[in-house]
Amino acid sequence: MERAPFCLANGSTPLSLSDDFILPAHVRPVLSSVSTSITVPVIDLNDKQPSLIKNISEACEEYGFFHIINHGVPEELCRRMMAAISDFFKLPPQERSHLFTEDKTKPLRVSNYYLKVEGQYKVTMWSETLAHPWYAFDDFAHLLPRNPPHYRELASEYAKEIGWLMRRLLSLMSQGLGLKKDRLRERLGHKPRLVSQANYYPPCPQPELTLGLPAHTDLNALTVLMQSEDVTGLQVMIKDGEWISIDPVPNAFVVNIGDQIQVLSNGRYKSVHHRAVTNKDLERVSIAMFYGPNKDTVVGPIEELVDEEHPPMYRSYRYEEFLEEFHRQEGTRRRVKEAFELPN
Ligand code: OGA
Ligand code: NI
Repeated sequence: MERAPFCLANGSTPLSLSDDFILPAHVRPVLSSVSTSITVPVIDLNDKQPSLIKNISEACEEYGFFHIINHGVPEELCRRMMAAISDFFKLPPQERSHLFTEDKTKPLRVSNYYLKVEGQYKVTMWSETLAHPWYAFDDFAHLLPRNPPHYRELASEYAKEIGWLMRRLLSLMSQGLGLKKDRLRERLGHKPRLVSQANYYPPCPQPELTLGLPAHTDLNALTVLMQSEDVTGLQVMIKDGEWISIDPVPNAFVVNIGDQIQVLSNGRYKSVHHRAVTNKDLERVSIAMFYGPNKDTVVGPIEELVDEEHPPMYRSYRYEEFLEEFHRQEGTRRRVKEAFELPN
């Protein structure tokens, strides 16, 4: 049976590739030049230390992105979580539109991303996003959408698992930096700012004219992303201008470093640009779980990583300052952490 055409939560007609979504030629993705020969590492969390720590550390230094397998989060839970998120975006538009807002301070929101071209007109991205807070140990079900019916329960269970996984990843990364296990988590502060962002990319008739998400670095500290099993879309910039595709690996998560760990590690671990492109025939879903400091946390290069040979690359700041700079650069190819760089 043919499914009803997709309508954005804030759209009154079925989604079509109108001028609102078409990027000017110089910012379109050049899909033919995306490298297929380079891939990011796949790291098996069952590997023994110290090689596990070494592999993670090298991936963080070189790519800022890697896959993890044998991560311990039950496959069945992952599958059901993806299904629930797909179901959310298939709710009738009026059931999503009451959550639609452009106010980024709203904890629960449905929104669209856009790119400001030449700092002027906005081009809307070919996607819709559902964002909300998550907590690993506190009950947050009441903050979540009521529909689809199982979402509250599933998202709570998933968050608990991701909470443990992130704790483990931060510990491995700390050790990779030569620090004691708890150091990164400690420096990221108590009451971290935890946000879940689910992205839905409907099939797009001409993927070369649009983007699903513009090129960006993640502003928080650490991201664990689950993506559709058999649809490509996520791409990472490895050198200036060269893009590679992060194709799905079965039962894996994509892990990437955000800006705050780049700063805390004094530039050793990389927060790199990435984007999502659309697919002509298939819809794609991803769920990004973000871990970041709260707005009062002071972030700066960790003292043990700074010495005469490695002078601090960034000044310290309250995370709220970073967020303000982030919002100031809304819609552009942001350069947020650069605003906190120290001259060398
Ligand atoms: C993000 C992101 C990529 C994707 O949500 O920050 O980079 O593949 N998502 O959806
Ligand atoms: Ni991202």
